[in-house]
Amino acid sequence: MTLAFDEFRETCRQRVDRNMAASLDAAPPPCPGLEEAIRYVLLAGGKRVRPLLVYGACRALGGKLADADAAACAVEFIHAYSLIHDDLPALDDDDLRRGRPSLHRAFDEATAILAGDALQSMAFEMLGASGGNGNRAEMVRELARAAGPRGMVAGQVLDLAADSAHTSLEELESIHSLKTGALIQASVALGAMSTGKAAPEQLAGLRDYGRCIGLAFQIRDDILDVVSDTATLGKPQGSDEARDKTTYVSLLGLDAARNQARELAADSLAAIRDFGNSAAPLRQLADYIVERID
Ligand code: IPE
Ligand code: IPE
Ligand code: MG
Ligand code: MG
Ligand code: MG
Repeated sequence: MTLAFDEFRETCRQRVDRNMAASLDAAPPPCPGLEEAIRYVLLAGGKRVRPLLVYGACRALGGKLADADAAACAVEFIHAYSLIHDDLPALDDDDLRRGRPSLHRAFDEATAILAGDALQSMAFEMLGASGGNGNRAEMVRELARAAGPRGMVAGQVLDLAADSAHTSLEELESIHSLKTGALIQASVALGAMSTGKAAPEQLAGLRDYGRCIGLAFQIRDDILDVVSDTATLGKPQGSDEARDKTTYVSLLGLDAARNQARELAADSLAAIRDFGNSAAPLRQLADYIVERID
C-alpha cells in the first residue's frame, strides 16, 4: 500500500471516529449502561472499511469529505449493529470480537440485542438529518434497502438456514452478496450520492465496483477464517469450520477462493476504469480488501 493510501485511510478513520464519538457526546442515551455498551462497540477498533468506501466514492467524484461524514457514520453504525447481532448465541455464537469479549459476553444478551437496535436507529437519525449536498431521503432509502429484509437481514437469514451439505456456489454467492455485499455496495453508492453530483452512469459504475468488491470482501473473510489466527483476526479463527458453515473455502478450496477474490477485485477496477486519478483511493481499497490480513 502506498503512503498516500495510508494517509487517506488514517484521515478517514479519524474523521469517522471523531464524528461517531461526537454524536454520542451531543445526545447520550438516558441510560448509562446502554451508552457504555454502544461506546464499547463503536470506539475500540475495527478497520472502518465501509466508511473508507463512502469517503473513497465521494473523492472519486471530486466531493468534499465533509459532505460524506453522515453517510460514513451511518454505515459504520449499521455494521456495528450487524456484528453485535451476528455474534449472539442465536446466530454465530462467537465470544470474541475486535480482540475483546463480544458485547453479549462483556455485558449480557439483552443489552447486546438492544444496543444493536439502538445503533440501527442511530444510523438513520444521522443520515436523515439535513445537510450536505446529497438528497437525504434517497440516501436513507438506499441504506434501508441494503440493511433490510431484501439486503443484509435476508443474507443473515439465508446464512443461518444454509445446509452445508446442499448449498451450491450460486446460492453461496447470493448469500454473501446479501449479508455483506449489500452494505458495502450501499457504502460506495452513498459516498457518491453525498456529493449531489453523481451522473447516472457514474453511479452505475460505482455500484458495479461495490457489487464486486463487496462479494470479494466476504470471500476474503472466509479465507481468513481458515488461514489466519485468533490474535490477528480479533475474532475466533476457525469459527466457520466449527459451525460447519458453507464458505468459499469449503466449496472451492483455498486457491480457487483466492483466485475468485482476485478476479472480483479486477472486475471492480474495470467498473471504475473511466474515473481518473480521483478514484485512486477506491482502487487501492480494492487491493487492500482482497490482500488484507485481518
Ligand atoms: C466483519 O467485517 C463482518 C463481515 C461482514 C465479514 P469487518 O472485517 O469489516 O469487521 P471490522 O469492522 O474490521 O471489525
Ligand atoms: C457476517 O459474516 C456478516 C454480517 C452481516 C455481520 P460472518 O459471520 O462471516 O462475519 P464474522 O466472520 O463473524 O465477522
Ligand atoms: Mg455470520
Ligand atoms: Mg460471524
Ligand atoms: Mg466470517
